[in-house]
Amino acid sequence: MPDIRRAATGDESLLAALEQASFSDPWSEKSLRAYLSEPHGLVLLARLEGKICGYLVSSLLLEEGELLRIATLPSFRKKGVGRALLTAFKEEAKRGGAKTLFLEVRKGNTAARSLYESEGFLLLGERKSYYRDPTEDALLYQYTIKYEEMQ
Ligand SMILES: CC(C)(COP(=O)(O)OP(=O)(O)OC[C@H]1O[C@@H](n2cnc3c(N)ncnc32)[C@H](O)[C@@H]1OP(=O)(O)O)[C@@H](O)C(=O)NCCC(=O)NCCS
Repeated sequence: MPDIRRAATGDESLLAALEQASFSDPWSEKSLRAYLSEPHGLVLLARLEGKICGYLVSSLLLEEGELLRIATLPSFRKKGVGRALLTAFKEEAKRGGAKTLFLEVRKGNTAARSLYESEGFLLLGERKSYYRDPTEDALLYQYTIKYEEMQ
């Protein structure tokens, strides 16, 4: 099972390296630092087999949460890291009183879409040609937090 912890100021170079391994348009250390320091930012790191191999960047504000980034290093994929990060995000959001979580994803990103759908995210809508390099539609997903399931 991956071990999940909150990232803190000082983790930005680690996060930037994970970004570069995962995305064609990686976020800079500067923009990552903003999420580490702003009160509404929630950044999680996953460790498996002694290595930090995944992360999630999100924002939680009042009753809404937004998943902004999630990635697992290629050699650690399909081992439950992404699901563990998403589960931890949902739990943190619930603890903070959020009611609804949102995310956007490239239409062709079948791995991420399959993860989100298997975790209960429902398709809410589509934004035509929303992404660049390459141009692609975005799908908007929503998750409603179920408080009756809380212990
Ligand atoms: C999406 C991503 C984070 C999934 O991470 P992961 O650690 O491999 O995910 P998990 O091992 O927890 O898999 C959870 C579920 O995701 C789905 N999934 C993961 N990889 C998949 C693939 N290659 N094809 C289809 N479904 C896939 C499956 O439903 C899987 O459940 P299962 O193992 O029971 O079949 C990873 O593929 C990734 O880093 N992609 C690049 C970055 C990205 O596109 N992020 C999303 C946009 S911000």
